[in-house]
Amino acid sequence: MAESHVEPTIEVVDDPASLARAAADAIARVVHAEGPVTIVPATGETPVDTYAELADRHARGAFDASAVSVVQLDEYVGIEREDRRTLFGWMDRTVLTPLGIDARRVARLPTDGDLVAACAAFDAALAERGGIDLAILGLGANGHLGFNEPPSDAASVTRPVQLTPATIAANARYWGSENEVPTRAVTLGLSTLLEAGEILLLVSGEAKHEIVRRALEGPVGEDVPASFVREARGSVTVLVDRAAWDGQ
Ligand code: F6R
Repeated sequence: MAESHVEPTIEVVDDPASLARAAADAIARVVHAEGPVTIVPATGETPVDTYAELADRHARGAFDASAVSVVQLDEYVGIEREDRRTLFGWMDRTVLTPLGIDARRVARLPTDGDLVAACAAFDAALAERGGIDLAILGLGANGHLGFNEPPSDAASVTRPVQLTPATIAANARYWGSENEVPTRAVTLGLSTLLEAGEILLLVSGEAKHEIVRRALEGPVGEDVPASFVREARGSVTVLVDRAAWDGQ
């Protein structure tokens, strides 16, 4: 029997500031519900204002992350774990420290040794502890989710990946030049992400117009990995600003 899926809720907001407030509200709803909560926070530019809004609420005593555990979404392979340019370093500065989340409550992706085996063990441990309650995701200009680059299918597991030229070009801004960007990474697999209780996909800016429409309105398939959010197990909310939705 074919599985039925609930359509994503698409919420179009005026601008990035409204997006950050709406995203912070959605995250707070999950985090402030009863009991421990496991979240996956994307790095990148889109959620920066959302995390800053949460940090601001935290500083005012209006956001409490004491029940939160964090699972890392993706990470570069081939740079020192202490390097501030790791995605963990970025997450630490932007999410963990501002929200008072202790590093002991963070599951950090493996980046050396037998990565296929270590990623499988990571998936197994995550499933064992009950999986992801909330995945806060961004949308790559090439349709990736995490570092699930096209083509990635819905059954893909947490694994080492080769970054595509499009992603390397997009990330060059953090590294000075394309030559400096690591070409390998590890990412939570789509199958892991699609099992999350809730997915919050944040999309901002005109440059994401074409890909957000393809992801939500085009065919579901591995050429646009983000299109698989339409087959997620849990609820999916896409918060998109008008520039991204309308393309102007
Ligand atoms: C980041 C990540 C990526 C980004 C995506 C959008 O951890 O996994 O999938 O979410 O590339 O990046 P921005 O928000 O910088 O446009």
